[in-house]
Amino acid sequence: MAASEGQWVLMATGRSPTNIAVIKYWGKRDEALILPVNDSISVTLDPDHLSATTTVAVSPSFPSDRMWLNGKEISLSGGRFQSCLREIRKRACEFEDEKKGIKIKKEDWENLHVHIASYNNFPTAAGLASSAAGFACLVFTLGKLMNVKEDYGELSSIARQGSGSACRSLYGGFVKWCMGKKDDGSDSLAVQLADETHWNDLVIIIAVVSSKQKETSSTSGMRDSVETSPLLQYRAQTVVPSRVLKMEEAIKNRDFDSFAKLTCADSNQFHAVCLDTSPPIFYMNDTSHRIISLVEKWNHSQGTPQVAYTFDAGPNAVLISPNRKTAALLLQKLLYYFPPQDKDLSSYLVGDKSILGDAGLHSIQDVDALPAPPEVKIPDQKFKGDVSYFICSRLGSGPKVIADENQALIDSVTGLPKGV
Ligand code: DP6
Repeated sequence: MAASEGQWVLMATGRSPTNIAVIKYWGKRDEALILPVNDSISVTLDPDHLSATTTVAVSPSFPSDRMWLNGKEISLSGGRFQSCLREIRKRACEFEDEKKGIKIKKEDWENLHVHIASYNNFPTAAGLASSAAGFACLVFTLGKLMNVKEDYGELSSIARQGSGSACRSLYGGFVKWCMGKKDDGSDSLAVQLADETHWNDLVIIIAVVSSKQKETSSTSGMRDSVETSPLLQYRAQTVVPSRVLKMEEAIKNRDFDSFAKLTCADSNQFHAVCLDTSPPIFYMNDTSHRIISLVEKWNHSQGTPQVAYTFDAGPNAVLISPNRKTAALLLQKLLYYFPPQDKDLSSYLVGDKSILGDAGLHSIQDVDALPAPPEVKIPDQKFKGDVSYFICSRLGSGPKVIADENQALIDSVTGLPKGV
C-alpha cells in the first residue's frame, strides 16, 4: 500500500523529562533560531515525577496537522512548532511495516499530516518548565515516528528551536547547552556531561509557591533584558564562561560545596539581571525570598552549604540536597515554616513521598510538633498556605519510547486523542 492510500494510522509515543538550569540561559543573540548569549547547564529531573508524554500519528486520512495539549486542541501555526515539524520532516527516512502493509518513502513524509497529543504529569499552571519537556518530547517522538537517523545532539538543536531550554531535555543527568558560534545555529546544541547515575545521591525538593501574579514569559522577559540590561552583557561575557568551567569541574568531582555555591550565585545573578531590566521583572515573591533566607541561614550556621537553591522565571524554589539525610532535615525546616493548609499531608508532598518517613513526618501532628530551626532568631512566624505543595524528586534519564500501545494518547483506529 502506498503512503497516500488507505486508512492506516501509524503512531509513536515517547516520554521526556523536564530540566532545571543550575547555570541559567537568559538572553538570545538570534530570536528566530533561538541562539543564546551564553552556555547553560541543567539537571534533568526524574520523568516519573515531571515529564511530558506525547503520541504522534500520521495517516493519509488526516487532512491537516493538529495538536492537543492536556486534552485541549491548540494551534500549531506558531513559528516554533512549524520549525520543529519542518526540521524533522526534512530528515525523515523511508519506513516500511510489511505486516501492516505500510510503506512510506522519504518524499512521502512531506505530504502526510500529523496528529499530536501531549500531556504533562504535573500541572502546567505550576510554572515548572513545561515547554522544555514538551518540545523535547515532540521532537524526540516525531523523530522516532519518521525514522530520523540523526543523533540526540542534532535532535537537541531542533528542540532548541521550539524552546531554548528544551534542548537540554534530550539527555538525562547533567547537561550542557553549548551556545555555539555559527550564525545558522548548527553548533548550538546540548551535550551530556554525566548521566543520572554519576551523582545519584542528590535529592531535589521543589516548593510550588502560591502566586496570583501573572508572570512575564521567559521569552519576552529575556528579550527586554537583552535590550536594556547592562548586567546581562557582563554576565554573558565575563561571569558565565568561567562559572560554566567551574560547574563542570564540580559536577565531575561530585563536589557539593562548589556545586551549591555556583548554583545559588547563578540563580541570584539571573534574578539580578531581571531587576536590572527596564521595566524591572520580579519573578520571585516574598515566599521565594523567605526560602532563600531559610537556606542561607542554615548554610551559614553550618559553615558549608547544606542545600542549593535555584529559581527560574517564577516564584517556585528548586532545592537540591546532597543526600536523603539532608533532604529530610530540609523538609522539616520547610514544613515548620510552610505547614499545609489542610490536614492531608500526603497530597502536600508529591513525587517521592518516602522522604516524609525519613523526616519522621507521618501525620499533621508530627508537623505541628516540629521544633523551630535553631539557626533562626525569630522562630515563631509561620506561613501557612504560602506554598501550594512540594515535589520530591531526583535526577532522571532522558527521553524514552513507550512501546505499550495502551499508553498511547491517540486512538490507533480514529487517529484522534483517546476520549475525544
Ligand atoms: C529561566 O527556554 O522557556 O528557565 O527559549 O524563549 O522558549 P525560550 O525560553 P525558555 O527560557 C528558560 C529560562 C530559564 C533558565 C533556563 O532554563 O536556563
